[in-house]
Amino acid sequence: MSEDSAHIAARMVTPGKGLLAADESTGTIGKRFKKLGIECTEQTRLAYREMLFTSPDLEKYISGVILFDETIRQRASDGRPIPELLAEKGIIPGIKVDKGLVDLPFFPGERFTQGLDGLADRLDEYRRMGARFAKWRAVIAIGEGTPTSQCLRANADALARYAGLCQVHGLVPIVEPEVLMDGAHDIKTCRWATEAALHEVFDALVRYRIVFKDMILKPNMVLSGTDCPRRAPPDEVADMTVACLRRTVPAAVAGIAFLSGGQSDTTASANLNAINVKAQTMKTPWTLTFSFSRALQASPMAIWLGRPENTAAAQQALIRRARFNGAAGLGQYDP
Ligand code: 13P
Repeated sequence: MSEDSAHIAARMVTPGKGLLAADESTGTIGKRFKKLGIECTEQTRLAYREMLFTSPDLEKYISGVILFDETIRQRASDGRPIPELLAEKGIIPGIKVDKGLVDLPFFPGERFTQGLDGLADRLDEYRRMGARFAKWRAVIAIGEGTPTSQCLRANADALARYAGLCQVHGLVPIVEPEVLMDGAHDIKTCRWATEAALHEVFDALVRYRIVFKDMILKPNMVLSGTDCPRRAPPDEVADMTVACLRRTVPAAVAGIAFLSGGQSDTTASANLNAINVKAQTMKTPWTLTFSFSRALQASPMAIWLGRPENTAAAQQALIRRARFNGAAGLGQYDP
């Protein structure tokens, strides 16, 4: 019998572990490679990701990896399909299933996530390939007069329809409404936008009859905007983030795994740790862990540079960040 969704969801948020988001689209990873002078081809993307996934002891800190469509179809150098390589280490393979962002007509600066058409068939195919969870990312921008209620609702409804399809097709949905850091807004504005976004998302999830115990929420931390002159310190980030989640997220949700959103790797770890310290004092009902891309991959990518001789050092850098974030998920990060 295959493992049920509640069990998969619980394993994804095992205390002390989190998720490695390695599901960058070809365009996004291409931009990151280019900055470092790494050639971007199907082979170099595979070599890079195989380097990450074969890091010794990765499974001690990483419960699941989110893959991109290209990667889930690739084979490691020993011939094993990538999802099998992960599963054999005890790491749950997952898959990004949205098809990216388009402008929301008549709402300047706001965007909408596509990918619902044909999704049921794609989910069946991904499940056959070994995926056990999925991810869909909605993006909410803070700006002059935004986010609007129309943008919040359109994205929340799409997230709920995606989540329902995942649950019917045997995959655990990661529901990701990301309020972006971009802008000069202060942390209070981020708190307002995040609360509005989460409220709208859970309203839609209720209306579409989503099973909360079989899903993971992937929110942003509540942060000062990138260009805000005052950077809120970790204890303030923690207060605002935990307050926001307590007001919007049902206790039945299986777990919460934050995105890093462009924070430096050390800031993301410090904030995750402060959030967990606060959550423990408030006795929140969920495990609060990480589902980071940039805050896990920035240092290993900068060390690897496409050179096989750098593999061991790059893997050590990944494990170091994964270990720190695993500790931060327990409120025990000591840099
Ligand atoms: P970052 O941690 O780089 O924000 O990426 C996480 C992710 O998967 C965004 O969808």
